[in-house]
Amino acid sequence: MRAKTPLPAGSTSTASEATTPPACSTADMRSRALELARLEPGLDVVDVGAGTGFASEGIVELADAERLTLLDQSPHQLAQARAKPALAGCAIVRGDAEALPFATDSADRYVSTGSIEYWPDPQRGIAEAYRVLRPGGIAMLAGPVQPAHRWARRLADAWMLFPAEEEYLAWFQAAGFTGIEVRRMAPDWFAGDFAVAIAGRKETAGPSPVALAPPEPPDESMTPRRWLRFAAGSLAGLAFVPVALALTLRARLRRGR
Ligand SMILES: C[S@@+](CC[C@H](N)C(=O)[O-])C[C@H]1O[C@@H](n2cnc3c(N)ncnc32)[C@H](O)[C@@H]1O
Repeated sequence: MRAKTPLPAGSTSTASEATTPPACSTADMRSRALELARLEPGLDVVDVGAGTGFASEGIVELADAERLTLLDQSPHQLAQARAKPALAGCAIVRGDAEALPFATDSADRYVSTGSIEYWPDPQRGIAEAYRVLRPGGIAMLAGPVQPAHRWARRLADAWMLFPAEEEYLAWFQAAGFTGIEVRRMAPDWFAGDFAVAIAGRKETAGPSPVALAPPEPPDESMTPRRWLRFAAGSLAGLAFVPVALALTLRARLRRGR
């Protein structure tokens, strides 16, 4: 599966800043997602697609800042994370979620919130989560879920990846995780499921058993067609929140009748 809204070459960070889907947009959603990661002091934790460090700020409330590594492909986002006093003790590295610059069996916890929707090949990213964990380690990933309402789903589809809950589950199972838990989450203003947090445990050392095709070389060329798709996807992203809000209000008014 490929990302729906291709980002223009050289502007990945600013583009993703402008079209941020709020997969873990509230502190409450963040806490509910992080609960599944079973964080505690003494663990080596990686936060992949850490962005400006919103999830990382929740992580350091539960685990050691000095043992947390933030990874993101965007130097702009990481610069904002670096400026946060709560994250001063963390390691911050630039890298790709689908080719993590971490050794196999080197972390106790893998966390990723609100980033999978940008990944060209989610199964590859989840296999990387598995690879870098030590046996007994836990991966927790939160991302948006396919909206139930027809119109919201159309906008979401034009925007970026909004996987169904079953797809998250299938990716985790194929990667080799066991004891998988799924938690549905939504901000107060949204009626229905908005995001899922999924967590699984790695039992045995080594890389993920999933068979992956060789990675496709990145296509950096922005043809007029790709620019058009990017613009349409970004517009769909901008329209998504007001449309979802209007649908929620309508559903609540109907229920109140
Ligand atoms: C919406 S932000 C989420 C940030 C943060 N985790 C949160 O929950 O607020 C998504 C982040 O994923 C990053 N990202 C997207 N694709 C990535 C990839 N392949 N590798 C690393 N980071 C990626 C983007 O640069 C962006 O900072």
